[in-house]
Amino acid sequence: EDSVLEARFQARIDAEEKIEPNDWMPAAYRRTLVRQISQHAHSEIIGMQPEGNWITRAPSLRRKAALLAKVQDEGGHGMYLYAAAETLGVSREELVEQLVSGKAKYSSIFNYPTLNWADIGAIGWLVDGAAIMNQIPLCRCSYGPYARAMIRVCKEESFHQRQGYELMLTLCRGTPEQKAMAQDALNRWWWPSLMMFGPSDTESVHSGQTMAWKIKRFSNDELRQKFIDATVPQGHFLGLTFPDPDLAFDEATGHWQHGEIDWSEFARVVAGDGPCNRQRLAAKRKAEADGAWVREAALAHADKRRQRQAA
Ligand code: ACO
Repeated sequence: EDSVLEARFQARIDAEEKIEPNDWMPAAYRRTLVRQISQHAHSEIIGMQPEGNWITRAPSLRRKAALLAKVQDEGGHGMYLYAAAETLGVSREELVEQLVSGKAKYSSIFNYPTLNWADIGAIGWLVDGAAIMNQIPLCRCSYGPYARAMIRVCKEESFHQRQGYELMLTLCRGTPEQKAMAQDALNRWWWPSLMMFGPSDTESVHSGQTMAWKIKRFSNDELRQKFIDATVPQGHFLGLTFPDPDLAFDEATGHWQHGEIDWSEFARVVAGDGPCNRQRLAAKRKAEADGAWVREAALAHADKRRQRQAA
């Protein structure tokens, strides 16, 4: 009986037990996890592009090595996440096909351009900072393989956030031109970073169910507020100004109040019409096509070895 199984499943979730790949789970739980984990994986993979754009133009060997390591980490995160999704019975090929065909979603943030070197600092500080805020609670998510993947991912994200903030600090202590670059990057990345947390709680369609299943532990607005509270003092320490005239500390609640997010911009970017959506997908399609021969050769090689062993 499905209702008995569902009740038993929910009791396990309520008791903070991890759900593992071979355990019984409701079809909707499986579907939700495939959706969220694959969107997360796609975000990591597409997220390599805006920063990859600056590897050849990093201003020093040290900066280049750090950026190269960070972009490689993101590729690795995408791979662990596809592997976690595969434990739910979906194939990586299927997921990648959904991405290159334009059917799958990935984070809105990666559809914005990286116009100057300070954007690399702003992405590490803000985008990776937002990612950590969202992903630390996912280390306690009810699905074992996703929770375990998040532990290593979060350690690496923490390094990314620090290198980004240190880059911003260096620019802010540099020449007036360098500080102006940092301010320009903050002006362009602040609002899109807030949009990473997803629609407001009143608009979020999945939150109610995913919180009951303990996939999500906090709502979109709760995490957004935690991020703002942590980040505003860091920006002030840099001597920068946030592009939000309504940003104000509320003594009564202890939180930073913020202005209205432009949800029409968010909707546009998610629907495929952001500044770089087409460019990002085109680059991903080209990479898939250019790498096809490697996959074919690896399969042919594995096949030959199998035949040799059988003979
Ligand atoms: N960009 C693109 N799509 C988004 C975004 C965003 N920033 N935020 C929400 N959406 C989409 C959701 O995927 C969902 O679409 P779908 O129904 O077609 O799948 C829809 O908007 C409705 O939103 P919610 O009901 O709030 O969706 P959900 O409960 O999945 O919450 C969230 C969204 C917070 C992003 C959640 O999926 C999550 O925590 N994901 C894991 C973390 C992640 O993916 N991070 C990626 C960026 S971090 C990085 O890669 C460095």
